[in-house]
Amino acid sequence: MKKILVTGGLGFIGSHTVVELQNEGFEVVIIDNLSNTTISVLDSITEITGIKPTFHKVDVRVKSEVKSVFDAHKIDGIIHFAAYKAVGESMGKPLEYYENNLSSLIYILQEMRDRKLDNFIFSSSCTVYGQADELPITEKAAVKAAESVYGNTKQIGEEIIKDASNAHNLQCIALRYFNPIGAHASIKIGELPLGVPQNLIPFVTQTAAGIRKELSVFGDDYPTEDGTAIRDYIHVVDLAKAHIAALKRLIDKNNKKAFECFNIGTGKGSSVLDIITTFEKVNNLKLNYKIVGRREGDIVAAFADTTTANKELNWKTEMSLEESLESAWKWQQKQSV
Ligand code: UD1
Repeated sequence: MKKILVTGGLGFIGSHTVVELQNEGFEVVIIDNLSNTTISVLDSITEITGIKPTFHKVDVRVKSEVKSVFDAHKIDGIIHFAAYKAVGESMGKPLEYYENNLSSLIYILQEMRDRKLDNFIFSSSCTVYGQADELPITEKAAVKAAESVYGNTKQIGEEIIKDASNAHNLQCIALRYFNPIGAHASIKIGELPLGVPQNLIPFVTQTAAGIRKELSVFGDDYPTEDGTAIRDYIHVVDLAKAHIAALKRLIDKNNKKAFECFNIGTGKGSSVLDIITTFEKVNNLKLNYKIVGRREGDIVAAFADTTTANKELNWKTEMSLEESLESAWKWQQKQSV
């Protein structure tokens, strides 16, 4: 049984990925410092899969703590989620973001180099493309100057991995996520945003639940069909499964280069108004919203060309937008009780 280290394994994407790893017969070791989640997620994972993953409360910024995990376990692969992810916050706390998101990455890659370990999956983001010149976005699209400190940590992270994998022959894959949404079908795990949500879907569900008065739609004067901005919303379980596919590619030595990047989205763009109407329809409710000005730093449209990921990873999305928005609402209702 292959043993996989999952950093940030109790977070939103991390927890769904741990479930899929265990379903696929991998043994999982989670490290998480619980800075943006709770320990109860470990119990939920155990309830869903019937298997309790090994858990260590570890801060990935502390090199000695990272080292102790590699000393304690013979690791066959690493999926690295642990990172700060709030775009707005990152602008006011650049040093914390660079420290957390990049020092942890370096420590893990050093352990891999020193122990001759392979099979590293990195959480990257479509934010590296900025406003791409062509849609849908392929992996060949230019990486544009980052709009935020958070985005820059993903770009620099990819550069660090590329250089390390070339110098030390480490086999690594970066997955560039589009917009992950939804919750596990069991409704036992989902997104737990701290404070006022910045992302669209948690704001939508909290508005429907009456926690927020109304949703602000940021701009209806974009050059799109209905004037609102377009994104590629992917169900988090589909996204989790992409990690398993990428890991298998590395374990089976099917990768073509030491460092590869793949776009992980549905390939379908939805506008903010599409999201609102679909959410209302599938959940049979009305959402209170108003149109306001554009949000600074937002791009017009981003959706993935998934051809390469579909072919090379032998992976494709299975969940519809409707299913994603239904599960997001069920998860929200469970939080409100
Ligand atoms: C944001 C981040 C991106 C990150 C991604 C991950 C920014 C600028 N970018 O992208 O780096 O990788 O999340 O999830 O924050 N919207 C509203 N009202 C709201 C919230 C959002 O209209 O209250 C709109 C936004 O203007 C956007 C769309 O909904 O058009 C999606 O927003 P969001 O969920 O924040 O994701 P991104 O902006 O794509």
